[in-house]
Amino acid sequence: MKKINNVLITGVAGFIGSNLLDYLLSKTTWKITGIDNYSTGNRKNIEAHLNEARFSFIEGSIEDIKSLKPYDCIFHLAALPRIQPSFEFVTEHISANLTFSMHLIELMVKENNFPKFVFSSSSAVYGTPEKIPTPESEKIDCLSPYAFQKYEVEKYLELLSTRYPLDYVCLRYFNPYGPRSFNPDNKFNAYSSVVGIFLYRHKNGQQLLVTGDGSQKRDFIHVYDLAKANYLAAVNPNILNTAFNIGNGDTLSVLDLAKQISSNYEFIPKREGESDITFADVTKAKQMLDWFPEHDIKDFIKNNI
Ligand SMILES: NC(=O)c1ccc[n+]([C@@H]2O[C@H](COP(=O)([O-])OP(=O)(O)OC[C@H]3O[C@@H](n4cnc5c(N)ncnc54)[C@H](O)[C@@H]3O)[C@@H](O)[C@H]2O)c1
Repeated sequence: MKKINNVLITGVAGFIGSNLLDYLLSKTTWKITGIDNYSTGNRKNIEAHLNEARFSFIEGSIEDIKSLKPYDCIFHLAALPRIQPSFEFVTEHISANLTFSMHLIELMVKENNFPKFVFSSSSAVYGTPEKIPTPESEKIDCLSPYAFQKYEVEKYLELLSTRYPLDYVCLRYFNPYGPRSFNPDNKFNAYSSVVGIFLYRHKNGQQLLVTGDGSQKRDFIHVYDLAKANYLAAVNPNILNTAFNIGNGDTLSVLDLAKQISSNYEFIPKREGESDITFADVTKAKQMLDWFPEHDIKDFIKNNI
C-alpha cells in the first residue's frame, strides 16, 4: 500500500468532495486539507468537520494554490461540472475545468514533485458510445464543452507523463447520486444529477421534469462507491497513469427513475450534448483496483422519498 499521510481534496465543499472527505476521515488517519471557492459548493456540506484536528479548510480558488509539496496525494474534484452551462459560459468553464487543473499539474512539474494525482473525470467523454456496456477503450466522442475539458485534462496528463514522472489516475464517473447531490443555492442546480433534482422536487411538491421521452438510460453510481474508488486509486502503488470507469455496471431509464419517485411528472424537450445511454463496463476497475460497487439505487430512493 502506498504510504500516504497528507492529502488535498479540491472541490471539498461539493457533492462528491464532501462525501469523499467523510469517507477519508472515517477510513484513514490521514491529514486532510480541503479547498473550495464555493462557486457551486456549500459550506453546510463540510460544516460538521470544520473543527476537526485532522481537517484544514482553505476558502479560495485552486488557481491560487502556490505549492503542492505538502501533499502525498491530490484528489482533484474542483470543477464546474454541468454539461448545459458549459455551452453558455464557455470561457468560465474552460478556466475552471481546464486551465486551473493545468495550474495544479504545472505546479507539480515546476516543483519537480509528483504526488499521486487522482482526477475526477466523466463518462461524458464517451458521448453516445457504440459499445454497450462501454469499456475504457471506447472511442472518445465529446458532445459538450464540459466533456471536452475533462478529456483535455486526461490527455494533458498523458502527454506530460511522457516527459515527467507523473503518477495519476483518471476516474470516469458515470451518474453519481447520494447525499448532498442537490444544492438548491447552486446557480447551475437545474442541471444537477437527476436523482437529486427529482427527490428535491418531489419533497417540495413539484412535478418531476423528464427530458425527452425519458427512455435515455443512465448508469447510476452511489457517491460512497465513488469515494471508495478514489481511496483505492490513491493507495494502490501498482496503478499508474490510466483511466477507470466508475459506474454500477447496469442501467435505469430516466422515466423509470421518475416513476419510482412519483407519479407526478411531465416531459420537457431533450437537451443537446447529453448521451442517450451511459452504461459502464467496470471490469478494469474490478480487476485492477479491486473495486466493486456496493450500493443499490432502489434502496437509496426507498430511504429518501
Ligand atoms: N456529479 C456528477 O454528475 C459528475 C459526473 C462525472 C464527473 N463528475 C466530476 O466530479 C467532480 C465533483 O463533482 P460534483 O458533482 O461534486 O460537483 P459540485 O459542483 O458539487 O462540486 C464541485 C466543487 O468544486 C468547487 N470549485 C469549482 N471551481 C473551483 C475552484 N476554482 N477552486 C476551488 N473550488 C472550486 C465548487 O465550489 C464545488 O464545491 C467534478 O470534477 C465533476 O466534473 C461529476
